[in-house]
Parts: sequence; structure tokens; C-alpha cells
Amino acid sequence: MSAEMTRSVVLGCGGYVPARIVCNDELGSLIDTSDEWIVQRTGIRQRHIAADGELTSDLGTLAAQAALEHAGIGADEIDLLIVATSTPDETFPATAATVQAKLGMTAGAAFDVQAVCSGFVYALSIADSMLKNGMGSTALVIGAETFSRLLDWTDRTSCVLFGDGAGAIVLRAEPGTGSAADRGVLASTLHSDGRLHDLLYVDGGPSSTGTTGHLRMHGKEVYRHAVTKLSDVVAEVLQAGGLSATDIDWVVPHQANARIIESVAHKLALSPDRVVITVDRHANTSAASIPLALSVAVADGRIQRGDLLLFEALGGGMTWGANLLRW
Ligand code: UT7
Repeated sequence: MSAEMTRSVVLGCGGYVPARIVCNDELGSLIDTSDEWIVQRTGIRQRHIAADGELTSDLGTLAAQAALEHAGIGADEIDLLIVATSTPDETFPATAATVQAKLGMTAGAAFDVQAVCSGFVYALSIADSMLKNGMGSTALVIGAETFSRLLDWTDRTSCVLFGDGAGAIVLRAEPGTGSAADRGVLASTLHSDGRLHDLLYVDGGPSSTGTTGHLRMHGKEVYRHAVTKLSDVVAEVLQAGGLSATDIDWVVPHQANARIIESVAHKLALSPDRVVITVDRHANTSAASIPLALSVAVADGRIQRGDLLLFEALGGGMTWGANLLRW
């Protein structure tokens, strides 16, 4: 029999995307690209772009408010706030501290996690560990990005791929039995390999150039690593949770490229109709993509209480990881 243990149970989730939609044809009028190329190679049809003056903290705050409303609790009940982002409002303070103030919170711990597109998977795992260790009772985990600000809009190999947005979930520490039937986070697996820096990075920063810099990517190489590393980490997290691929009700993957998502699902013999795909409408929103996709599939009723969810992501660092969570 499993020993009783604390579980980080989801109380609610929410998402937010900026109002402005940029479709592929609009990009085709600015640079040498086409709707046909972008759709065929990535599945992306459009992306949302933040307005001038609309900051990562604004997107994160709106997603957090939607998640708190869905959870039916107030911001004053949150004692741990983590924002996963690579596009903070400022070099410091943490965007999480800014979101904390915008939510009207006067207490709790707030900090950012920087693991690029794997940021939400990392932040969820950290929040889960802290709740299990008694370092908080109710956590808000946000993925929020304004990647449009990091893009070189003359580089067609990268600028067509990304968008802005935010997603959030509320977790509460609740007693569980320790079995895989519990609700909440069941297992997480994280990896990083800093030797792969040059495949995906931003060529600037406060300590190197004193500028923000622009995103640089060797797309084909990232693609190759993504398919193998994501397949491996999914197998690993399933093993850690004592579950198998056939137990999964919904895969909510990082939304970088529909072809990567489909290849990983195929390698693991996961049915494509059990995979949540939003890359067509949001493009790649980095750390925001998983909670944003989650909020879409919860709002439209696909994800139901008790369902087993798998999150998986890979990004700059290189970082990658996965979580298993029972809704
Ligand atoms: O969030 C995690 C990080 N990112 C990723 O996971 C992205 C991983 N990589 C990918 O998704 C894909 O590699 C891309 C979508 C970036 C590129 O697709 P690809 O099938 O690997 O294309 P490619 O880089 O091999 O380029 C094929 C051709 C090239 O032309 P030539 O050399 O064959 O004449 C490119 O110059 O497509 C050209 N190309 C474009 N053409 C029109 C590259 N970007 C564009 C574009 N529009 N936007």
C-alpha cells in the first residue's frame, strides 16, 4: 500500500492572448515567405502579437486572473507565485514580483524561472516540490512571453515561428494516497545540456552585450534533438509515475511545430486525436504554450476531471522535460 503524501492538485487554469492577430499572409507581404511554406513546415496559420506598451507582466496577470476565477479563489490565497519567462519586463526585478503587485497581492514568495520553452514544465515541477515540502499551500504557476520583442523580423527562418501569450494554473497542496490514481502532479522529469547553447539562443544580454539581442536558431538541429529527446523524456516520466502511454488521456505538448508534436506522438504510439494542438492559432509562445493550450482544452470540455495529462517541452539551453498530472 502507498504511503500518504501531499499532492499538488489543480484548482483552475486560464489563458490570455493579445488582441492583435498576424496571419501568415501579412508576414508574406513583409518578408520572403508564404502561407503555404509556414503551414506545411510548421502547422502555424497565425500568431498573436502584443501591442506597444503591453508587457509580459500584463499578459501574465490577465492569464492569472482567468485562472483564479476558474479556481474560484482570490489572489490573497496564493502564497507562491512563479512566472516562467525568457522575456521579462525588465532585467530585474522578476516579472513574478510585478505580477504579484498587479494582482494586488501583499504576501507570498514570487520569482521567475528561465528555461525558455521548457519553462512551464520546470516551473510546475518546482512549484510541486515546494508544495510537497510545505513551502506554500497554494501556488500560481504562470507561463508568459512577449517573444515578438526578441525576434529579428528580417530573419524568415525564425520570425514566422513565434507569438505572444500567457497561461496560468492554480495548484493547492492536498492530501493524496501516493498512488497513480491521485489527482495532482504525479511525476516530473527535467533535463538540460548547456553544450547545445548554439542551437537556440539570444545574441544579447545584460552581461554580454548590454543589449536585449535577437533570437538565433538552427531549426533543423533543434528539430532533430526535439523528436528524440522528447520521446525519451516522455518514456522516462511515465516510468517515474508507474504508468504507460496507454494510460494517457491527453498530451498537452509545447507548441513549436505540429510536425514535431505528431512525430513524438507517433513514436510513442499515442493516438493523434488525444493530442492538444494550438500551434495553428498561437504559434510558438515558448513558456506560455502548454498552459495556454491546456486552458483551451479545458474550456472546450475536452479535458475532464480525473483525466491523465502529459506535458512535454524542449527549448533553449538546451532544456527539456515532462510532467504527468491527473486533472
Ligand atoms: O520551441 C523550441 C524551439 N524551436 C523548435 O522546436 C523549432 C524546430 N525546428 C523546426 O520547427 C523546423 O526546423 C523549421 C520550421 C524551423 C524549419 O523547417 P525545415 O523543414 O527544417 O526547413 P529548413 O530549415 O530545412 O529550410 C528549408 C528551406 C530552406 O531553403 P533552401 O535552402 O532549401 O533553398 C530555407 O531557406 O526553406 C527555407 N525557409 C523558408 N522559406 C519560406 C526557411 N524559412 C522559410 C520561410 N519561408 N519562413
